[in-house]
Amino acid sequence: MAQQAQYPEAVEILQHFSLSEEKMHEIIHRLTKEMNMGLKKETHPRATVKCFVTYVQDLPTGKERGKCLALDLGGTNFRVLLVTLKSETDVDTESKSYVISKALQEGPGKQLFDFIAECLSDFCKEHKIEKDNIPLGFTFSFPCKQNGIDNGTLVAWTKGFQADGVVGKNVVELLREAINRRGDLKVKVVAILNDTTGTLMSCAFRERNCRIGMIVGTGSNACYVENTSNCETFEGYQTSSKPNMIINCEWGAFGDNGVLDFVRTSYDKTIDLESVNPKKQIFEKSISGMYMGEAVRLIVVELMEKGVLFKGRTSQTLQQKWIFNTRYITEIESDSPGHHRNAAMVLDQLGIRTTNERDLACLRFICEAVSVRSAKLAACGLVALINKMNAKDLVVGIDGSVYRYHPHYHALLMENMNLLLKGSVKFQLMLSEDGSGRGAALIAAVSNK
Ligand code: BGC
Repeated sequence: MAQQAQYPEAVEILQHFSLSEEKMHEIIHRLTKEMNMGLKKETHPRATVKCFVTYVQDLPTGKERGKCLALDLGGTNFRVLLVTLKSETDVDTESKSYVISKALQEGPGKQLFDFIAECLSDFCKEHKIEKDNIPLGFTFSFPCKQNGIDNGTLVAWTKGFQADGVVGKNVVELLREAINRRGDLKVKVVAILNDTTGTLMSCAFRERNCRIGMIVGTGSNACYVENTSNCETFEGYQTSSKPNMIINCEWGAFGDNGVLDFVRTSYDKTIDLESVNPKKQIFEKSISGMYMGEAVRLIVVELMEKGVLFKGRTSQTLQQKWIFNTRYITEIESDSPGHHRNAAMVLDQLGIRTTNERDLACLRFICEAVSVRSAKLAACGLVALINKMNAKDLVVGIDGSVYRYHPHYHALLMENMNLLLKGSVKFQLMLSEDGSGRGAALIAAVSNK
């Protein structure tokens, strides 16, 4: 606190990022309401938080075995994986990452799917499995309306993707067509899933009590286990013999109808306008890695222009939108207290040479405010799901670059969930081991039975 008094201008700005307990409870209340609208048949079409049924009704038993391929599209890299489930504790994964260029993300959809098929072919040939007709699970981490375990229509692109001619199409079909166009591969695409579902499944394989899968990475979202009888958009919701259904919340879109305006800052509004999908994914834009760095940059630039930071110096580099990678936040907050080695290095990379302790401490202070708010919002989301399930003892599986690499994110989530739940629920937050790959393999293994 004493330190903060040194930068009153920063304190002034950052107070807009603080979330009181009262506001957090209001967010939980509003999210719950939006989710219920997504689940109900009558309100689903106009709901912002869609709560899509995933057609995954069985959680792993731990007995799943076999060899499956997985494709993982939706994060920083595109990956092809070959997963062999040998035993509950022995899962063998071989994988290869490929870069999806900006041109592919924004070009014709056909080119994107041809590239995916090309990578798959390259990988299968390397492993000499191109003719083996291995079941494949497609982890496609964008909002999809599913009509079956192997049928998902893209509703909208998120996270910077914009490829033409994909929205409104069944992406499994697009993948099968691209594979067939090549004619050099025999694989069986048996399932499409979201990364949150993969995360839940892979954690549940180890921890049978896992009921939520959350991602805080480039984007943010969560899935949870709902009673089938509440899933009105699922045809057989009243007659299904299976009691459970994993629901992909697509909570990133929470707030797209204005219900989060009471906590949004002017910086959030600027980020939204700068993004390729303005007015969409409002909750995600205050939480996830694609946007956190930009919030820090906007605040730093404002303080620099006011002459509060880096006295007398400006940086052209820092003026560039999106230049402040969220990785920098992770690095800056990894400095031990009172030390600013990483902070100085980051600024150096951005064209500002300073050893001014006050400036460096202020930069860290800004990063912390953005991280804390992200974790508080994610905690609100988790608590809404826990309350919805009326769970008293559960494991939450989590993945994504922010949760994985930020030095304090786990502790911040724990602190805020404890604050909100007040000891009423026993919970554990568990880092998922490659949910997108293992989860896809588990679902493919079950679906292929
Ligand atoms: C997508 C979700 C995904 C999340 C995390 C969001 O932008 O809409 O489907 O689960 O990112 O990757």
